[in-house]
Amino acid sequence: MCPRSVLNAPVAMLAMILWAFSVRAQDKFPTDFAAADVNIGERLFLETRFSQYFFTNCAGDDNAEIPGDSIVSTLRTATGHVPGPFRGLAMNCRQCHLVDEEGYGPFGNNILGNRTYADFARRSPVPPRAGLRTQTPRNSPTLVDSFIPRNVPLFLHLDGQFASAHDLIIGTLTGRNFGWLPSEYATAVHHIANVIRNDDGAGYLATEARDSRWRLEDTDLATYSNIFADFTNYDGSFITDPRTLKAFLISPQYALDMRYASDEQILNTIANLIEAYLRNLFFSQATNGLDFEGEGTAIFNGSPFDVFLIKNGLPQLPDPGETPAQYAQRLLQLVTQLPHPNFVTNQIDGQFTTHKQSFHFGAEELKGLKIFLTVTNTSPGHVGANVGNCATCHSLPAFTDFIFHNTGAAQEEYDAIHGAGTFKSLYIPDLSTRQTNYNAFLPPTTNYPDATGLFETPPSKDMPGAVDLGLWNVYANPEFPTPQPGLQQILPQLLGLSLPRFARAQIVGQNLVLNATNGTPGAVCIILASTNNLLPTGSWQAVATNIVDDAGTFSFSASVNPAAAQTFYKLSLSLPSPGAVLPLTVARFKTPTLRDLGQSAPYLHTGRRETLEAVLQFYQEFSTKARLNEVRNADSALSGIHLSDAAIEPLAAFLRSLNEDYTD
Ligand code: HEC
Ligand code: HEC
Repeated sequence: MCPRSVLNAPVAMLAMILWAFSVRAQDKFPTDFAAADVNIGERLFLETRFSQYFFTNCAGDDNAEIPGDSIVSTLRTATGHVPGPFRGLAMNCRQCHLVDEEGYGPFGNNILGNRTYADFARRSPVPPRAGLRTQTPRNSPTLVDSFIPRNVPLFLHLDGQFASAHDLIIGTLTGRNFGWLPSEYATAVHHIANVIRNDDGAGYLATEARDSRWRLEDTDLATYSNIFADFTNYDGSFITDPRTLKAFLISPQYALDMRYASDEQILNTIANLIEAYLRNLFFSQATNGLDFEGEGTAIFNGSPFDVFLIKNGLPQLPDPGETPAQYAQRLLQLVTQLPHPNFVTNQIDGQFTTHKQSFHFGAEELKGLKIFLTVTNTSPGHVGANVGNCATCHSLPAFTDFIFHNTGAAQEEYDAIHGAGTFKSLYIPDLSTRQTNYNAFLPPTTNYPDATGLFETPPSKDMPGAVDLGLWNVYANPEFPTPQPGLQQILPQLLGLSLPRFARAQIVGQNLVLNATNGTPGAVCIILASTNNLLPTGSWQAVATNIVDDAGTFSFSASVNPAAAQTFYKLSLSLPSPGAVLPLTVARFKTPTLRDLGQSAPYLHTGRRETLEAVLQFYQEFSTKARLNEVRNADSALSGIHLSDAAIEPLAAFLRSLNEDYTD
């Protein structure tokens, strides 16, 4: 396909010899390792040979041309099927995380529209294996901004199964999405490493894909083993003119000596490069925003909403030390007081090329913004009785708090299938029952390949007990150790408990009296004391336990002995045991961003809502149910939502003003 003429060969040889003597890695010419990591990461994201289908059909030839896997011949949509962009090939990350394949731009077919690395299905088909599930448990989420900085630990997947991109990538490449069973982990790892070792650089990705983005002049060079080895001759020199390699020279710390690289090392490099790619998927932001590693502060500027803030000199993000909730209330106050808002007008302020709507933020969107930010009927600028309470979970400016809530989406689906009220009475085991019968209740892993995953399975008529309980599957499950410390860290937030703080210290007679405020009424608070405030919290002594009163306060007193060593005090919350917490994790899912929803329908983890208006009607219904105590384990913020029918259109208009042109 990429013939190299015989005449050129001596010239190439000459170049090779010259460079072999004169150029060593990392000097003499500008490199761009970070960009190369992202570039190669994308090629791996599209690689179709890692799949179990390829493994079983390639007859041991890692460069074989195989008949395409029928699972990718079509793309599922909410209403049917369309031809798949990877037909003739096999499963790859992009199959479920599309960008422009069905959309606009040089690589798109201009039919269904762009995606923010989601697909069009309610749930995505996975390669069928005997008797096992044929689709992902959940709707494929957007991956743009999945890794931006946050003030909570990183949780990935809607149930928090993964705590790092690295684990997620390895888990996915060797898991059900790629056709592998938990018992085939070792086979999968060995196969994936062999694809890298044996790649001949002449396949579709290395030569043709995306306008030959990954083609090198000399096809032999474009092999993964050259790329993973940073094109080295193992004497520190390059095997060809390094200036032609700039886009392919991965960071030296990821490069491998391919003569000795183990399967695990190869898999790690794959994961590092795909991670670099994922970390580079951002919504539009100011140049002083995020760098290649995703470090920094995102200052969003791509949507009509962002342009509205900019045009009116409104703050685009919280001030240092300000919480997202405080920022949201300040913003509400500021927009309410705007005497003459400067609206955003199509063509003057911007124009969409990947959305059919106009680039616009006017009175209707502003009305929607106010409903979105309003938290109680008494908030400044509340619009009639409409309280969105939305920013409580969809915190600005990323429009997510990155943690887990139950809005009723799992119950909505279960009750729609099995009848009203059935989810509330569904049997869900307690912690000890769950742990003593792993296979019956929890998701399959390499240690438990035969587990049913009953509670991460979408409900259906033929499986009455099956349902997707989200975080419940992961919380306190020893098979998923990595997210546990992060979950413990966010537990007070999940339980809605705020740590009180000392507001005042006084000496009254012989006593030190400490007053604490800002606690959650009813919370149990422990006072810790130490003579050395540099010691870790674990080594402090608990000296008292107090219950926070209805006003969120309590006071504590201790006698002061002038002869004793000085004492430091601090507060800690007494958190419930895992057994008590588990029922509170039922049906919680990670809050999704609301940016650019025009490119990720259908919505909710169930994929059961196709329009924004339909999602808002879902909130109308489930906030009402929550007030009637009809939602099992409802989030406390849910009953705070009050939306009249008149609120739907302005809120939907506001959500559409968060759209932007997202392209690859
Ligand atoms: C068969 C479809 C499918 C394939 C193939 C697939 N994904 Fe996913 N991806 C999903 C679904 C569905 C979810 C949501 C999973 C969940 O919550 O259980 C997801 C979630 C994710 C997330 C988490 C996003 C977040 O914010 O929590 C990342 C990151 C991701 N995928 C990356 C990848 C990578 C990298 C690959 C290739 C190695 C890949 N995916 C392959 C369907 C797929
Ligand atoms: C209690 C926290 C919370 C509140 C309050 C809340 N949301 Fe959500 N929102 C979530 C979570 C969690 C999900 C994902 C639910 C699921 O799929 O199970 C979600 C999903 C959505 C989705 C679907 C996004 C997608 O990609 O599928 C939209 C749209 C949305 N919310 C808008 C709103 C609006 C508008 C409001 C205010 C009226 C609001 N939310 C209030 C937590 C919340």
